[in-house]
Amino acid sequence: MTITTSSPQNISVLLFLSSVFFLFISICIAGATPRLSAIGIAHVEYILSSISCFLASTSAGYYEEFFYTQTLDHFNYRPESYETFQQKYVINFKNWGGADDGAPIFVYLGGEAEIDEDPGFLCDNAPQFKALIVSIEHRYYGESIPFGSREEAYQNASTLGYLNSAQALADYAEIIISLKKNLSADSSPVIVFGGSYAGMLASWLRLKYPHIAHGALASSAPVLYFDDNVAPKNGYWSIVSKNYLETSKFCYNVIKQSWSVIDSIASRENGLAILSKKFKTCYPLSKSSDLKRYLHSIYAKSAQYDSPPEYPVTVICNAIVGAPTESDYLSRLQLGVAAFKGKKNCYDMRRGEGKHGWYWQMVMPIGIGHEEVKDTMFKESPFDLKNFSSFCQSRYNVTPRPHWILNEYGGKQHSKPHLSWLLTART
Ligand SMILES: *[C@@H]1O[C@H](CO)[C@@H](O)[C@H](O)[C@H]1NC(C)=O
Ligand SMILES: *[C@@H]1O[C@H](CO)[C@@H](O)[C@H](O)[C@H]1NC(C)=O
Ligand SMILES: *[C@@H]1O[C@H](CO)[C@@H](O)[C@H](O)[C@H]1NC(C)=O
Repeated sequence: MTITTSSPQNISVLLFLSSVFFLFISICIAGATPRLSAIGIAHVEYILSSISCFLASTSAGYYEEFFYTQTLDHFNYRPESYETFQQKYVINFKNWGGADDGAPIFVYLGGEAEIDEDPGFLCDNAPQFKALIVSIEHRYYGESIPFGSREEAYQNASTLGYLNSAQALADYAEIIISLKKNLSADSSPVIVFGGSYAGMLASWLRLKYPHIAHGALASSAPVLYFDDNVAPKNGYWSIVSKNYLETSKFCYNVIKQSWSVIDSIASRENGLAILSKKFKTCYPLSKSSDLKRYLHSIYAKSAQYDSPPEYPVTVICNAIVGAPTESDYLSRLQLGVAAFKGKKNCYDMRRGEGKHGWYWQMVMPIGIGHEEVKDTMFKESPFDLKNFSSFCQSRYNVTPRPHWILNEYGGKQHSKPHLSWLLTART
């Protein structure tokens, strides 16, 4: 596993814990956990243990790339809504049983990253179901950028306003319908798949467009995490902590105690300079919260993607535990950072520039502000809605609507009655 480290660090709070999170399954076929899409800004690429079907099929000519002329704004009739952009999708025809046999279409929904041309889980299962595999890129990511360029598209709220889950679902609906028509595949059922944010999209697509998505498999999709009453009090940060505790109690304790060490140094007259030097920051720290946010994000990412062959939590803890015996807490942490990020001349801990769409998309913040952090290795909840709101204000001049997602897609109300409805759909 390689971890791209160029991304901003301040959104760790909204990284979802991949494998231990809600496995919200709304599905009509049997299945195991699909491979997860990258979540948050941390783009994690998995080293494939086997040759993927798309890679394997490229040479054999099974893999094809397309662009669909997509409508910018599906939901009103203002002239600018009719602008279009090119949305990328790829198809693997290799296993498809064909329209005449009504063979299914598996659609892998893009999340907040460039298109995944290798949805391994779908590839693994396509032969058995004789399924067509389609992977669609999410608007504003990869090559599917409106307004002609990334710079334009990400300019400000006027252009970013079209980046939201409802528009993305409508994009997917439109492409699926058009594709079925072009393939004369009217009788082919469509099963949508996704993990994490894209997993939420999969379940929401099934809810909002049941005539298009006949089934959905949503993996690690925290659809209930928007709801104050349902989201677990001991959620994300507890599980991150547990992962560390199980890896090494010593490592866990060093981290747990380091927060007050950081605070106490920061409160000294030249404390920030000491911390900057200790942690080799590229720019002098102007507040200790930047350092703490950076560390939070490293612990979150390492735990969220704590998979073989690298096991980043183990990598970090080995560095913390294996430090020379006389090392103090902060030196140990620094070694942990270096082990995770790689040895660098300096580490950039400034809050990111927000060029990535996920910043904007978090205007729909996931409700984890109320999470408790007692019995964890964290001192305070790294997510604070008020603070986050002021961040959105200062960066985009918009205020989050934290509960809109619940109005739009339902929260705990949809989970029970609709889940059974989802399960009984189309047999
Ligand atoms: C975004 O930028 C464009 C071009 O500079 C400008 O016309 C528009 O008013 C801006 N919108 C906002 C919300 O600032
Ligand atoms: C279906 O065919 C039309 C006409 O050629 C084309 O414009 C459209 O992009 C195709 N749809 C898809 C999803 O490829
Ligand atoms: C968020 O909180 C931190 C630490 O309390 C503070 O330094 C920062 O200025 C706050 N950010 C915003 C946007 O309010």
